[in-house]
Amino acid sequence: MQQLFRTRTVSHDAYRDSGLKRCLSALDLTLLGIGAIIGTGIFVLTGIAAATQAGPAVILSFVIAGFACAFAALSYAELAGSLGGCGSAYGYCYSAFGELIAWVIGWNLLLEYGMSVAAVANGWSGYFLNALQALGINLPQAITAAPTKGGLMNLPAILIILALMGMLIVGVKESARLNAIMVTVKLVTIAIFLIAASGNVNVANWSPFMPFGWFQRTADGHTVGVLAGAALVFFAYIGFDAVTTAAEEAKDPRRDLPLGILASLAICTVVYIVVAAVLTGVVSYKELNVSSPVAHALILLGHRWASGLVAVGVIAGLVTVMLVLYYGLTRIIFAMARDGLMPPFFCAINPRTQTPIKNIVFIGVVCALFAGFVPLGDLAELVNIGTLFAFVMVCIGVIVLRTTQPQMHRPFRTAWHPLIPVCGALSCGGLMTFLPAITWWRFVIWLGIGIVFYFAYSYHHSRLATTAH
Ligand code: ALA
Repeated sequence: MQQLFRTRTVSHDAYRDSGLKRCLSALDLTLLGIGAIIGTGIFVLTGIAAATQAGPAVILSFVIAGFACAFAALSYAELAGSLGGCGSAYGYCYSAFGELIAWVIGWNLLLEYGMSVAAVANGWSGYFLNALQALGINLPQAITAAPTKGGLMNLPAILIILALMGMLIVGVKESARLNAIMVTVKLVTIAIFLIAASGNVNVANWSPFMPFGWFQRTADGHTVGVLAGAALVFFAYIGFDAVTTAAEEAKDPRRDLPLGILASLAICTVVYIVVAAVLTGVVSYKELNVSSPVAHALILLGHRWASGLVAVGVIAGLVTVMLVLYYGLTRIIFAMARDGLMPPFFCAINPRTQTPIKNIVFIGVVCALFAGFVPLGDLAELVNIGTLFAFVMVCIGVIVLRTTQPQMHRPFRTAWHPLIPVCGALSCGGLMTFLPAITWWRFVIWLGIGIVFYFAYSYHHSRLATTAH
């Protein structure tokens, strides 16, 4: 029993020479954060949440989810600065709670990041095909839709993941450079939307402000209201945690990781609240239940050119989300394999590129298959529940480690401890309860599979087990 809670302390120093290349600056990390954060959430889910769950009060949904994320981000910043390691929440939980909980969190993160990459690839493919159509190019359905949607496969979704695979193999600095360019395009896009639309804000569109109230469960198990909207748009904030997976490739992780996490989240929170306010201010929220609400709103306003530009921005923007989450996924499995909990195949580093090539290829192929052959609607909600769970554990981890390791050097200390981590754990835990029942079932099943894997493989191969003999 005790073995299940054996702990392993991660530290920046222990991973000083992990074989990965230390080349990322504070700016790179902040841009990685923005790259992962701004994507489907703001460009797609805002409309769905406004039309079906919150009305114009989706603005409040963004504020609430933003607060939950800010508390969690402060906790992440403390642990990322003091512990490090590219395993992110998985590694922190190894130190705070021991192996079994760390495994559960790591297993969850795999689902979170993997599903996000595949789901965003699907969204990206939709935008890409629309853009091609606008140029008069129509690809046959056989190669643009998954089998259950009347095609053979979603080829664009597969190809974009394979292209990113190539990028990540080449090197992390090169990937960061591509990310920086794409992030700029995406921010310019949002600026264009705001400039083009803000003159058309009509306060009448904000009334009624909360047509669905705060929260209720409908007879068919769905959830509506501002809080349900918050649990959904939470997806838009996911990604600041991915900054921490760059811990072993950051030049000065103790200082720059907390900076990157907090700066990227702060910038994106402001952007989201402003975009949500303008979007629901220019058209009725009822018009927004479409796959591309931002572009759709501009078309309704008669700005066709701006709508085209937005589409280009979204296509570029979603690429960075996939790139950073795919990158994060490879680093988390890397950390788990280094600890013996996953097969060693995943932590072999190619000395020339200083990247874990086999790991990158394996994950790319798996994500590409998912993206190409499975339509990923509801599964996206799984991403939220898994991430919220990781956030809750990171917040509690801060409190546990302050007690068990009070002397640990903490370059960034969360203010008002334990108030902030307690608020983080409660708000993220609260958002979990607003998710539909089916999401909970899927979550439990995934956890069950993970526990079986743990006892069949990881428990025996753990570095802590093998070095103890
Ligand atoms: N936050 C990311 C997005 O909205 C996952 O696409």
